[in-house]
Amino acid sequence: MIHPVIMAGGTGSRLWPLSRQLNPKQFLKLTDDHLSMLQLTVARLDGMESADPLLICNEDHRFLAAEQMRQAGYKDARIILEPCGRNTAPAIALAALQLAKATDDGADDPLMLVLAADHLIQDVAAFQQGIQKAIPLARQGKLVTFGIVPSHPETGYGYIEQGKELEDSCYSVDRFVEKPDLATAESYLASGDYLWNSGMFMFGARQYLTELEKHRPEILSICQAAVEDANEDLHFTRINEAVFAECPEDSIDYAVMEKTQNAAVVALDAGWSDIGSWSALWDVSEKDANGNSFMGDVIAHDTTSTLARSENRLIATVGVSDLVIIETKDALLVAHKDKVQDVKKIVERLKNDD
Ligand code: GDD
Ligand code: MG
Repeated sequence: MIHPVIMAGGTGSRLWPLSRQLNPKQFLKLTDDHLSMLQLTVARLDGMESADPLLICNEDHRFLAAEQMRQAGYKDARIILEPCGRNTAPAIALAALQLAKATDDGADDPLMLVLAADHLIQDVAAFQQGIQKAIPLARQGKLVTFGIVPSHPETGYGYIEQGKELEDSCYSVDRFVEKPDLATAESYLASGDYLWNSGMFMFGARQYLTELEKHRPEILSICQAAVEDANEDLHFTRINEAVFAECPEDSIDYAVMEKTQNAAVVALDAGWSDIGSWSALWDVSEKDANGNSFMGDVIAHDTTSTLARSENRLIATVGVSDLVIIETKDALLVAHKDKVQDVKKIVERLKNDD
């Protein structure tokens, strides 16, 4: 039995103005007319032998998260609420401690399948096969990640140097490098020895805690205190703010994966995509003959390779290409498709102006 743990505490700021503080990316219907990114993530587990997903997100999103989980058929799913974001190493530690607590000391280490709530996976069967391959490795005490063959020198991802083959499509990890600079990413791509880290993991809960203790003991001890002090009701586990606020901020990638000697990677070819920006959404969208992807009320003339989404008003375009146009009730974004990584700079400015 595996325990899916879904990390849903990110801000998705590069998808502004659709993704907002109170309604971030993982709760939006970005790639599907009916299901949010979170709901697609849980739907992807259908047919697998797994426990109810354990969700971990910010307290501000508790009603949104609980309602979306209920709609997805998991009305009893437990939701851990963080009073503040401390990135994924602490978030996963809280979930691991919760799972370890619910399991007898002598019992097998509960296997966590850690998933991001905001990825797109087009081939669900291949995804589920990848997970099956990871189970025996995780049972042997490995920290298993899922690797993607890289297509370009992306600097927003982690890179995994593949070591010797352990099983079919499973390798030991010689090196894990989180978010390298462009020149390094280019050399990794050229070498052909590296996979992208998909940001999904499988390991035993106690195994993760042991690794965290080794590499970032201060994160573990604060998370332990925070879980001991947590307030539990029917659905929510509320983490104490005074305790958790003291926790250092770090991602699992820097805190554990770069440091451990104990990682393995399952190579995954499942149409994975991190919808990190508007251009990434355009990449995976269905497009017309001119390479345009439109949603809502859009009229285009002499327009190519453009993503346009209208919620309220008609968008009309003439003689343009490679644009992103996102219209919402209170904001309109017009950006060049090659510059959409910088949308987060607008969000930072808006925050500073508050
Ligand atoms: N609960 C919780 N708390 N979840 C969080 C927090 C937090 O403080 N911070 C981030 N998350 C969630 C996000 O919602 C997302 O689902 C997931 O954790 C990953 O966080 P991101 O902030 O999106 O990470 P990233 O994209 O920069 O990098 C990670 O993913 C890449 C692939 O998409 C890394 O694992 C990279 O190595 C990887 O290549
Ligand atoms: Mg991400």
